[in-house]
Amino acid sequence: MSQLFTPIKLGGITLSNRIAVAPMCQYSADDGCMNDWHLAHLSSLAISGAGLVVIEATAVTRDGRITHGCTGLYNDRNEAAMRRVVDACRRLTRNAIGVQIGHAGRKASTQVPWEGRSALGPVENPWQTLAPSALPYDDGPEWHTPRELTVQEIEGLVEAFGAATRRALRVGVDAVELHAAHGYLLHQFFSPLSNRRTDAYGGSLENRLRFPLAAARAMREAWPKERILGARISAHDWLEGGASLDDTIAFARGLKDLGYDYLCVSSGGLRLKARYEVKANYQVPFAAAVKKAVPGVAVRAVGMIAEPQQAEDIVASGQADQVALARAFLDNPRWVWHAAEKFGLPAPVPPQYERAAYKVWPGSKLARP
Ligand SMILES: Cc1cc2nc3c(=O)[nH]c(=O)nc-3n(C[C@H](O)[C@H](O)[C@H](O)COP(=O)(O)O)c2cc1C
Repeated sequence: MSQLFTPIKLGGITLSNRIAVAPMCQYSADDGCMNDWHLAHLSSLAISGAGLVVIEATAVTRDGRITHGCTGLYNDRNEAAMRRVVDACRRLTRNAIGVQIGHAGRKASTQVPWEGRSALGPVENPWQTLAPSALPYDDGPEWHTPRELTVQEIEGLVEAFGAATRRALRVGVDAVELHAAHGYLLHQFFSPLSNRRTDAYGGSLENRLRFPLAAARAMREAWPKERILGARISAHDWLEGGASLDDTIAFARGLKDLGYDYLCVSSGGLRLKARYEVKANYQVPFAAAVKKAVPGVAVRAVGMIAEPQQAEDIVASGQADQVALARAFLDNPRWVWHAAEKFGLPAPVPPQYERAAYKVWPGSKLARP
């Protein structure tokens, strides 16, 4: 009996299984607007059979985009472009679709990966980055020094998180996911390494959590309880003096108390120089620790989960309620069908493709001996 393929109720929505497609930036948008690339990419994932597909990190303001190619939900054009894609996905699947909402902070204004992954140079139309403190992402002259946000700007950003969430509601997704991980703005406030403020938004853990939890609250207020509200958090900075697991558990508790339905536990991303081994299940112990310490909220594990039995074991052992996979879905958008095959379950193949379902297509034994 597979646990991975059992339904799970998050908020008011029951997902068909415990498998989520993790959010993945495509760096292909036009001034924050999705286009045909996103239509093709997300259509393929929509028919993957995953219980939830989470759309890439989408910025709450234009300067909160990571790159010139990142999606946004900060104006009507962005909203209409995303609605076109989500409407198309709706016609392809009954599985849930979510969007991750965030702000890149000091990690904004960078090159798309295939153009270099560094900060935008002077002729690449860079923009002024913003952060809790004027500390660059990493050492080296190429990294922009962000401008420290004023209290008024922080309050404006809280509003922006709420406004983007209202746009997501109009787009019609089932879930929104607060991006508080990977060294982006909310994580920058959370970590003592990037937050050196001396006002109410820096210093103690309570102060460092003030802005992340205010943004989380603005999203909760904008998002109906009948849908799914989640957050992605970074459990470990992998750097000396960084946020601890205890800090993460306090953050997780705050999100649970606000009424968040799930927490996806990731790590890293605060500085380029952080060193850690990305091996199978490397973040699962963090998910298990959050799950143990903060009952009452579903926990999603992510990071180097690539094989069906591996995913099954994480859920069946109770270390997490759900798993999210990113690269495994780029490698093989049919991952869920093949996992179902492995467990002898009916594969969630759309009717148009049923002749290739493993139960009726003998060639499947040749393809996957
Ligand atoms: C192409 C790509 C884009 C990504 N973009 C995002 C993103 O938008 N938001 C996010 O939280 N993580 C992002 N990630 C991280 C993944 O969601 C995931 O946490 C990470 O890749 C580890 O999972 P995996 O081993 O299954 O790939 C991205 C990863 C990849 C490969």
